[in-house]
Amino acid sequence: MIDTTVFDNAPLCEPERQYYFIDHASSLRLKKESELGHPMTFHVTTFGCQMNARDSEKMTGILSNIGFTETDSETEADVVLFNTCTIRDNANQKFYGHLGSLGGKNAKNPDRIVIVCGCMVQESECTNRLKESYDFVKIVFGTHNIYKLAELMFCYLNKGDRIFDVWDKPGEIVEDIPSIRKYPFKSGVNIMFGCNNYCTYCIVPYVRGNERSRASDEILRECAHLAQDGVKEIMLLGQNVNSYGNGIKDEMTFPKLLKEVEKIDGIKRIRFMTSHPKDLSDELINIMRDSDKICRHIHLPLQSGSTRILTAMNRRYTKEQYVDLALKIRDRIPGVSITTDIIVGFPGETTEDIDDTVDVIRKVKFDGAFTFVYSPRTGTPAAKMEGFKDPDWIRREFDRVLTAVQDESKEMAARFTGRIESVLVEEVNEKDVGFLSGRMSNNLMVHFPGDPSLIGSILDVKLNECRGFYYIGETV
Ligand code: 5AD
Ligand code: SF4
Repeated sequence: MIDTTVFDNAPLCEPERQYYFIDHASSLRLKKESELGHPMTFHVTTFGCQMNARDSEKMTGILSNIGFTETDSETEADVVLFNTCTIRDNANQKFYGHLGSLGGKNAKNPDRIVIVCGCMVQESECTNRLKESYDFVKIVFGTHNIYKLAELMFCYLNKGDRIFDVWDKPGEIVEDIPSIRKYPFKSGVNIMFGCNNYCTYCIVPYVRGNERSRASDEILRECAHLAQDGVKEIMLLGQNVNSYGNGIKDEMTFPKLLKEVEKIDGIKRIRFMTSHPKDLSDELINIMRDSDKICRHIHLPLQSGSTRILTAMNRRYTKEQYVDLALKIRDRIPGVSITTDIIVGFPGETTEDIDDTVDVIRKVKFDGAFTFVYSPRTGTPAAKMEGFKDPDWIRREFDRVLTAVQDESKEMAARFTGRIESVLVEEVNEKDVGFLSGRMSNNLMVHFPGDPSLIGSILDVKLNECRGFYYIGETV
């Protein structure tokens, strides 16, 4: 029986409306469980960046509040949610492969509720493909309405029809949606959504919408609440954190926001991601230098070392400006680690452009770099440019960039040998259960003998031996 009175009585305000639908979806879940004869479980699989990871924590919170039980098994779960990424085409291919293999297994459990959401879904090509070729996918929504998961789940449990609800523009920022964190001792905190930079290769502004900053009092309230809940490390998240505050009523900038977060007692470490080089101010560098809490790590995407390519990418800085900025950061903040993103194979790129990229790598000596092959994204300006590179050229030049990055970052990692560093213990080592893995302020990992009860604490660890990109150490 389809119940329409629930909709008639639903509050119009958020988040009250979603809490109302959490209750009603919960009643329908109980009904379904009695038909199935077992408690219903869920599994969330996340692709992509920290933004998606944080969104997944919110959706995990909503599903748990409806009363589904989280399980590790994607193939056994009654509700399977995929939070997708579309930054490069291989992200899309990986997802379709994954979904196809789940489809086969799905035959055994036709009652399973498969949900697909996130960045890929914002592309009509993907939504159409899901509609036509994956009929076992029951609920589809994009990046702008994840807070409505409870309402969508209620609609599906109530009526049983497939739901496609993809918005082409962001709506209001909805606060106070429940979330369940992956780690009890650290958490991401969104400070802004979307991006206005329109780098010519990038699909993010199209799938995540224009840049919107969250009100600073909401951010600080969330950080204080996390601190009360035992969180020691916070990562402030945005596509371009340095432009935080544009378009909001309070006079808040990113450096000022950092100073406010610093005042919260229980928070011992503050990270942020990502910084656009064109907006990174002296004020921010000085605040980092003077802070005991802001971690010694800046992720500063370079993309290319060639001014000609940077212009074509619409990055709005030159090779020289980037190098000057990175060396200034190194000079003012001793021990800082600088990591980056580099794209190889942008349309029209030449071997001389790659020489420039390698030159920047040698000058800045990155502590780490993610190197990507350029992937044309439908609807972006670069996808319509001329001069696509052939795969042999890309392979050769990619290797050249990778070798330079690895040479430099190995040398940079080793510079801390013998030092005692403060480390946040994150987990039991994957390969050796007698060892724990912890993260230093500069984002390097160290593995050392220890008891799992130490997870979540901040300890002094001596860095005995550097093994490429991580350390083996001991507590002191
Ligand atoms: N092709 C390859 N890499 C890309 N990135 C973003 N868009 C593309 C693309 N179309 C990379 C950039 C960015 C990182 C998150 O992903 O380096 O900094
Ligand atoms: Fe994409 Fe550029 Fe925005 Fe980063 S700053 S999300 S690369 S458009």
